[in-house]
Amino acid sequence: MLNFVQGHLISIAFIVFILGLVYQGIQFFKLTKKKEWCVPPSSIEIKREKMTTQQRILEGLRSLNGNLWKTDPALTFITVVFHICLIATPLFLLGHNILLDQSWGVRLFSFPESLSDLLTLIVLICGVYFLGRRLFLARVRAISSVYDYIVLLIALAPFLTGFLAYHQWFDYEIVILLHILSGQLMLITIPFTKLGHMLFFFLYRFLIGSEYSFVRGSRTW
Ligand code: HEM
Ligand code: HEM
Repeated sequence: MLNFVQGHLISIAFIVFILGLVYQGIQFFKLTKKKEWCVPPSSIEIKREKMTTQQRILEGLRSLNGNLWKTDPALTFITVVFHICLIATPLFLLGHNILLDQSWGVRLFSFPESLSDLLTLIVLICGVYFLGRRLFLARVRAISSVYDYIVLLIALAPFLTGFLAYHQWFDYEIVILLHILSGQLMLITIPFTKLGHMLFFFLYRFLIGSEYSFVRGSRTW
């Protein structure tokens, strides 16, 4: 059982993660179709089409200034920091890269262990902030369901257990097992829960034509 969790189940989790995202991507293209524009592009859109990629990104960032950044700068800052640490830490973690090297002979650049530990702590602090908002801010609590708490827990559990394992708090064998299981759970659930926003964020904001799009999206439902 233990060998299965530490061996084949890791491969299964990665396969479900990758194939699950591919499946969701295919479903997105099946469920949407090319948009027939009934209004000609506005002068702003024509101007945007003539811009270089760099100019478009700068323009996009400038337009963000009018949205969440102005309404809630603290949340915007914390969300950005949370996501950068959440993605960079497991990718550039020495412990993970050693395992990757042993199994597939691939090794990415690794952060110093103290930096990874600090980034893990930052993820956990941001997670506590998100949890606090859901628990104590009436307007956020009103739209939070058990599902939101479970998803937050799934995202934070690998960081909490990884942190405990690194510091060798509690029984290491049990903690590392919980870490591997929680990591696998996170990978498997990403394509099938709202954690799938990792993919859908880009599909919706760049391909769907709506008021929330960053560009003049070319598809519709
Ligand atoms: C699924 C297979 C996984 C395996 C086999 C695995 C294995 C490990 C190992 C061996 C360590 C080092 C523990 C130590 O220093 O003693 C570790 C640490 C860590 N893992 Fe994973 N892990 C997995 C998935 C994940 C995922 C999906 C995440 C997050 C997205 C994650 C986040 C972390 C973090 C943040 C640490 C280090 C915390 C710190 O240094 O404070 N792991 N993991
Ligand atoms: C890689 C691209 C990703 C993008 C662009 C992205 C974007 C976002 C955005 C815009 C939000 C809303 C923030 C807010 O409430 O203001 C959000 C929330 C969240 N994201 Fe991501 N995300 C990505 C990947 C991930 C991944 C891989 C995970 C974890 C597996 C994750 C976990 C979360 C969680 C837990 C929240 C909600 C926090 C809460 O309870 O309010 N995200 N993300």
